[in-house]
Amino acid sequence: MQGQVVPGSLGQMTTRLAPDALLLALGPRPARDVGRWLQDGLRAAVVEGRVPAGTVLPSGRDAAVALGVSRGTVTTAVDVLVGEGLLVSRPRSGVVVAALPAAPSARSAVLLGEAGPGAARAAAAAARPVSVGTPDPALFPRAAWARAVRDGVRGLADADLGYPDPQGLPALRAALAEHLRRSRGAHVSAHDVVVVSGVAQALALLARLLADGRVAPGPDPGPGPVTVAVEDPSSRGALELLRDAGTRPVGVPVDADGLRTDLLPGDARAALVTPAHQFPLGVVLAPARRRALLAWAAAGDRLVLEDDYDAELRYDRRPVASVQPLDPERVVLLGSVSKLLSPALRLGWVVAPPRVVGPLVEAKRHADLGTSAPEQAALAALLGSGAYQRHLRRARVVYQRRRRALLAALGEALPGVTVGGVAAGLHLVVPLPGPAAEDAAVDGLRAVGVPVEPLSRTGVERAEPTEHGVVVGTARVREPDVARVVDALRAAGAGRLPA
Ligand SMILES: Cc1ncc(COP(=O)(O)O)c(C=O)c1O
Repeated sequence: MQGQVVPGSLGQMTTRLAPDALLLALGPRPARDVGRWLQDGLRAAVVEGRVPAGTVLPSGRDAAVALGVSRGTVTTAVDVLVGEGLLVSRPRSGVVVAALPAAPSARSAVLLGEAGPGAARAAAAAARPVSVGTPDPALFPRAAWARAVRDGVRGLADADLGYPDPQGLPALRAALAEHLRRSRGAHVSAHDVVVVSGVAQALALLARLLADGRVAPGPDPGPGPVTVAVEDPSSRGALELLRDAGTRPVGVPVDADGLRTDLLPGDARAALVTPAHQFPLGVVLAPARRRALLAWAAAGDRLVLEDDYDAELRYDRRPVASVQPLDPERVVLLGSVSKLLSPALRLGWVVAPPRVVGPLVEAKRHADLGTSAPEQAALAALLGSGAYQRHLRRARVVYQRRRRALLAALGEALPGVTVGGVAAGLHLVVPLPGPAAEDAAVDGLRAVGVPVEPLSRTGVERAEPTEHGVVVGTARVREPDVARVVDALRAAGAGRLPA
């Protein structure tokens, strides 16, 4: 990044960004919608660290001349980014890039001696473990979401402000149906959609219905808990939800083509799968295995619960299509905004056949009387305005760039290591030579603030874990952080042969 180094107001050296360098950071100017180009481009440059914290932006007049836009356009973009906390307007020095919180650990916040309620809140938030699949909060499209809330709430009828329809706001169900048809190839209309507060709630409700025999009861329910086939390894949270709801998850191994469908248990009433991007290994369910899975479901009138948690965030090609359109009578598609927007929203969806929709809506009503209508209206507005798609395109670019940097550094430092799950999502799997290396990598990565899970603990009741490694959350690993991640993995023993 070109810039001129000048003394800052406190005597420290500050970089002043040259107007031409601003144009370089933004890329080619489009013919239309220059306001959005400026806003989105500047946001991405700041979030990705291409324009570092402390950099002083050119004056509004200089920027407008260099970019060939009006001063009003510059002022609006700057105001939005100041509102998002990415820029700070200082009376004498001008507009400065803010220091972004780099997901400090609770310990580092204490060590840095921060004080006051803001620091206490930050420490409390940092003490909550961040899951490996959490998106970078700095990318959350605050301005677009704020607009969507305003537009969505304005469009609500008085009747929408009573208890919500437990199936979901019709406008959101219609918007989701259209979106899922287009982006996931799903076979769906608004009647097939149930709005839930995330995949977690969907799983909890569906598992309860399976356990009670209200869906997919099978010819002879028999004594004992209902069995649900799950991928092994798989998400520990999902396993806990299945068990809490009274079902018995039974692990089925996963190889390079996904779930070993030849090992699916005959007594299971359903299978929970992640076909587009297996969690955690990251493989795709091969076409022949998809067919075998559906044949297994049809043979016993079983359900396939397709967890489509991060399928939109694919970097190597177009997203892998969902399994649901191949058999919409037996496949239940589950998704949420948790990976692309934020898990804080607690908004998700289920696409299900009519025999599941009825009991599921009843279960949702019993659980919580329905999801917040204003939040649903906001998501409908975000989808309807195209802002969701714009955010998806931008997030893909940012995450892909970060992953490339991390993978290149890993490839250079640890050439013998085959990293798994690189083509999609927000996590990677790094193999390690044994339990001690796994523990060391977990400690080392946590110490540098990177979300991590031991691979050996994502299995299903195995006496001896067969594979060791770490599942690493990559969403917040920016280019300057890459070296610390690589060092932590190398120090733990990545790339060494098993003892
Ligand atoms: C495999 C898997 N599915 C789904 C989710 C998302 O759950 P929710 O939509 O409830 O946030 C996660 C979150 O980490 C996950 O790991």
